[in-house]
Amino acid sequence: MALQAASLVSSAFVFPKEGKSNAYFKDSSLFGVSLSEHVKADFSSCALKCKREFNQGVGAVRAQTMVAATPALDRASSESKKTLGQGTCIVTGASSGLGLATAKALAETGKWHIIMACRNFLKAERAAKSAGIAKENYTIMHLDLASLDSVRQFVDTFRRSGRPLDVLVCNAAVYLPTAKEPAFTAEGFELSVGTNHLGHFLLSRLLLEDMKKSDYPSKRLIIVGSITGNTNTLAGNVPPKANLGDLRGLSGGLNGLNRSAMIDGGVFDGAKAYKDSKVCNMLTMQEFHRRLHEETGIAFASLYPGCIATTGLFREHIPLFRLLFPPFQKYITKGFVSEHEAGKRLAQVVSDPSLTKSGAYWSWNKHSASFQNQLSQEASDAEKARKVWEISEKLVGLA
Ligand SMILES: NC(=O)c1ccc[n+]([C@@H]2O[C@H](COP(=O)([O-])OP(=O)(O)OC[C@H]3O[C@@H](n4cnc5c(N)ncnc54)[C@H](OP(=O)(O)O)[C@@H]3O)[C@@H](O)[C@H]2O)c1
Repeated sequence: MALQAASLVSSAFVFPKEGKSNAYFKDSSLFGVSLSEHVKADFSSCALKCKREFNQGVGAVRAQTMVAATPALDRASSESKKTLGQGTCIVTGASSGLGLATAKALAETGKWHIIMACRNFLKAERAAKSAGIAKENYTIMHLDLASLDSVRQFVDTFRRSGRPLDVLVCNAAVYLPTAKEPAFTAEGFELSVGTNHLGHFLLSRLLLEDMKKSDYPSKRLIIVGSITGNTNTLAGNVPPKANLGDLRGLSGGLNGLNRSAMIDGGVFDGAKAYKDSKVCNMLTMQEFHRRLHEETGIAFASLYPGCIATTGLFREHIPLFRLLFPPFQKYITKGFVSEHEAGKRLAQVVSDPSLTKSGAYWSWNKHSASFQNQLSQEASDAEKARKVWEISEKLVGLA
């Protein structure tokens, strides 16, 4: 019952396993402002920008961003892009950590307009301001990846903006290492895989159509991976290890009721669910490459930016861990990278002419030089990638 109700109500709620405890309020509403008001806010800020730019003499170029997409608009949009010389890049989860640092690094070049796709509009606005990102270089649009309705609504909002899409960065993630029981997305999928993998899977599949229309010379679709999902590394061997097994839990819909909430069908483990979701991210990137690189020319890539031990990703961890993890990474493993450095790395994957290889998984050495890294056996298993793709497209309603 709770799961059925979940699909009918706002994505601002996440439902723990049926009968376990109360639903909790998730910070995807704007302190009580409804989703449609977020969207209105997107439009009114866009309208304000249009007005401002019109007054500055470029109104003819930008004013059409409020109009629904039409062939004429497509032409006008690409015209505006040429005039402005800026690419458009969507970054999910740009309200903190790696996503924010990447948005800042890209915006500072003056070559990119960043669509900050975030679940908390006010947090994102404050983050952009405090990072010093110039107003004309970003637009915030509401996206809650824990709701497939929200993903579809985001795509619709983006299309109405009239902007072409040149690069998509799937960066947002949740990590719930101390959770004793699974929590669920609006559609009833375990929250880590539902957000990190399924939400991004639907988003990137839908937005691929927009990217195909862009005439940008170096289109890229990037899904942030992690060393923790790769069991060919030391970090990837810290238990619980990622393992998708025979995908029986994923096939069952990860609902935690009659089926397991874990991809491999096992007992719930929040840390493993995160690592499994990262394996799905890396497999998805490769499957995109196999299926669509040749046809579209889009470069599909993933990366491990280094251990950014200070980000909000660890917010659900125990306080002692949060205290000790950054110095441990800085002085013992020496795998630590600052948010600033990690943002520069991801920005490189977005726009550096030397990182255009499709199907690549990028890492950086201790001198911050990029190289193409090896994925683990499971994270590079083509047959598993195909199955994850096919099951996922059923779960998100694409097949
Ligand atoms: N930190 C590391 O050491 C590390 C290492 C390897 C890879 N990564 C990867 O880097 C990426 C960014 O992580 P981070 O370290 O920068 O963590 P972070 O600071 O917690 O950023 C995560 C972002 O995801 C957003 N998010 C979470 N759930 C969402 C949802 N349902 N809908 C929309 N957005 C949502 C968060 O939004 P709110 O601000 O609203 O919470 C936040 O903006 C992740 O893919 C992570 O797996 C991180």
